[in-house]
Amino acid sequence: MGGSGLVVHDLSVGYGPVRALRRVSLEVPEGAVVTVLGGNGAGKSTLLRAISRTLSFHGGAVTEGGVRLGDRRLDALPPDRVVAAGVSQVPEGRRVFARMTVADNLRAGALGGTRSGRAAALERVHELFPVLAERAGQRAGLLSGGEQQMLAVARALMAGPKVLLLDEPSLGLAPLMARRIADTVREINAQGTSVLLVEQNAALALRLATRAYVLEVGEVALSGPADELAASDEVRRRYLGVVDEGAVADAEQAGGARRTLTRWQGEDA
Ligand SMILES: Nc1ncnc2c1ncn2[C@@H]1O[C@H](COP(=O)(O)OP(=O)(O)O)[C@@H](O)[C@H]1O
Ligand SMILES: [Mg+2]
Repeated sequence: MGGSGLVVHDLSVGYGPVRALRRVSLEVPEGAVVTVLGGNGAGKSTLLRAISRTLSFHGGAVTEGGVRLGDRRLDALPPDRVVAAGVSQVPEGRRVFARMTVADNLRAGALGGTRSGRAAALERVHELFPVLAERAGQRAGLLSGGEQQMLAVARALMAGPKVLLLDEPSLGLAPLMARRIADTVREINAQGTSVLLVEQNAALALRLATRAYVLEVGEVALSGPADELAASDEVRRRYLGVVDEGAVADAEQAGGARRTLTRWQGEDA
């Protein structure tokens, strides 16, 4: 595998005695949008923390496996060096510095660089999110939830990442705002940034991504092209809230779920 794809291989993570991820492998090819789906507690945030090297802030540690960006190993770097290497994370819960202005929040994301580089990054995020230019002098805590999410994404973009890690960006947002965030993710990707999108909102994520992984209790239970997962009865029933009793009964009788799973894994290999 060449280029600057992000590769997670056989990653296991524990929080003390609690095993949160078990031998998770996945790949975000250069230029792709890849999604990781899974319910609450599946290990989605843990995966992103392991990639961004912020696990230790949460009392967690990698026990096995690793992460590469292209040929470069990320798993020996401190978090700021991971950002410098081209991987920026938008953490869960749109954490912005509430008492700082919008402009200062963005400045905090720039992480060094040249003055002209920072100016270009700021121009780019203002084009993506004009509202942040309008509110530049306002305290971030006064923004709406959706605007705070935009600011959190914009702050991560200030470092000019090759890969953007997004942790449930649509969580708690009204459907219209969630769609706007989705449009923005598409645009960020169109400008050349790869995206690893972690979501409980499977419908939205599967529309954005080309490839999807489903995490269940810390393990990859399914993976495949996003359109195939979106069309699968198993995924529709369990992650999209679609109930089709006939299809469910048929699948169970034929052992369909397991067969589909094997087929996807076969394509992966
Ligand atoms: N800081 C932590 N300390 C101990 N256990 C944690 C911590 N964060 C998460 N966990 C546990 O790790 C598992 C995965 O959590 P998490 O990655 O937050 O899942 P998700 O983001 O998919 O909801 C869960 O069992 C959760 O309770
Ligand atoms: Mg989470």
